[in-house]
Amino acid sequence: MSDEHFQVYNDMKEFIGFTAEDEVRLQALGPVFAKHGPGITDRFYDSLQAYPKTAKIVEGRVEALKSTHKQWMTELFAGEYGRPFFDRQYVIGQVHVVNNINPEFVEAVTSTLRTFGRLAVFEEMGSNDDAGLHSDSLAKILDLALMTINLAYADERIDRMSNVTGMSRRLIENLIKRGAKK
Ligand code: HEM
Repeated sequence: MSDEHFQVYNDMKEFIGFTAEDEVRLQALGPVFAKHGPGITDRFYDSLQAYPKTAKIVEGRVEALKSTHKQWMTELFAGEYGRPFFDRQYVIGQVHVVNNINPEFVEAVTSTLRTFGRLAVFEEMGSNDDAGLHSDSLAKILDLALMTINLAYADERIDRMSNVTGMSRRLIENLIKRGAKK
């Protein structure tokens, strides 16, 4: 979890316009997800169990994983989106890499969270502009969490190449950059 990556995270916050108002809205959504979060978690674990590639990964530990996931969801609405939040998402990325979970599955779950999260917000707040703003804040924090998890995936790929080849990370990164030049 480098300071450089934390800077990227902060730049992305600025880029997508994640402000103090989003933080307030996310905290206000706490009770909505205390109610709907467990159902949303159950739903996507049903999907993971129904899909052979992911079913193998979660086999025998679904209940433990659900409980970890529910805890993570609670933290999304705790109102803290600085360095500790960033570090936590990065570690989550590393844990998924170590467990050989392809990043597209984490992205697919995030998509499910966006869809059902939005429905939960509208169900509790009604179909109005304010609910729309709360739903946008939810989408932003899910995207920031995903961006951070993806940074960990990208790092791990370079670390693995570095371990196998003995080349430094800097050299590998330079080679990747050179490979892009025509
Ligand atoms: C947005 C998507 C996801 C989130 C937020 C999430 C969240 C988490 C968290 C918080 C942990 C615990 C990390 C720690 O030990 O510090 C974890 C571990 C894990 N997750 Fe996920 N997860 C996601 C997607 C997935 C998917 C798609 C799979 C399987 C296909 C999966 C399988 C696992 C496994 C196997 C572990 C490791 C459990 C262990 O170490 O025993 N997760 N996840």
